[in-house]
Amino acid sequence: MPIILPPITRRQFVRGSLALGGAAIITSHAMASADSERVPLDQNRVALLADTHISGDPNFVYPGTKWPGSPVGEGAHESVNMAQCLADAAMSVIALNPRPVHLIVNGDCAFSSGKQAEYKEFLRLVEPIRAAGITVHVTIGNHDNRENLWKSIPFLKREQMGIQADVIELPHANLVLLDSGRKGVLGDKQLDWLATQLDERTDKPALIFGHFNPYPNQGVRPIRGMKDGASLLKLLSEREHARAYLYGHTHEWQHDRRAHLHLINQPAVGYYFGKGLAHGWVDMRLTETSAELELHCINRKHKQHGDRRLVSLKDKKTRN
Ligand SMILES: [Fe+2]
Repeated sequence: MPIILPPITRRQFVRGSLALGGAAIITSHAMASADSERVPLDQNRVALLADTHISGDPNFVYPGTKWPGSPVGEGAHESVNMAQCLADAAMSVIALNPRPVHLIVNGDCAFSSGKQAEYKEFLRLVEPIRAAGITVHVTIGNHDNRENLWKSIPFLKREQMGIQADVIELPHANLVLLDSGRKGVLGDKQLDWLATQLDERTDKPALIFGHFNPYPNQGVRPIRGMKDGASLLKLLSEREHARAYLYGHTHEWQHDRRAHLHLINQPAVGYYFGKGLAHGWVDMRLTETSAELELHCINRKHKQHGDRRLVSLKDKKTRN
């Protein structure tokens, strides 16, 4: 079972924000717009976020990661307040009309190692989204800690603790959330589970989500990615109704394709590994024939803001 943060009432949201006192400044504007009763929810719309990297300190600013051979020069990094980025992304999602019924954070919610203080802050920042009627889902990234996340969610049932994998069934597609853990391994048991879930649902296309890249990153930062990524890709390539694998981890907006399978690399909400790379979130709209992806940059003047990608959900040769 994955971690699911269900919608909350406006009253619950206001009560929680007031209890947090001064820490609620960032979400104060969201409170005004998080009125779930007025704006309809679209069952075919999903907001896709990844790598929010929230610190326990809402004012924390980070200059980005350095690595050997990085093309980003010393002193050329751009500092980012990740809490503000998530608050901005939340505002953009809430402003949609109709609103997405679901929002997925595809791993690395936390900044460092998944401390409880980081999750407390993360959960505060996604509260306006939940108050807007949207269900929030979380996958596990290498900076997350399952146990600390569970401890931070008092209403979580014991049966929801474990490997965070499940299927979200939507009218036009099934979304499969995977748990690649802290080390980027799915394991044979989870791969078998994935094969079973896909084989039981051949009537609809499937979009698969996991934190780690399934093959070595083709973008700016060399990252090997998921250790059993080749097994995952083989499994998905053998099932034509598996239309896309969507992942984070590399903090870079990229799109690749292998036959029917699209490989969508979600940008980080929080910060980027290369100066000037896009960071933000993706608006996904599902129809019977496609998943339309639109990039929403935190910096709306970024040249890639509004960039679109189309994932075909039907192969004309094999499906009706
Ligand atoms: Fe990350």
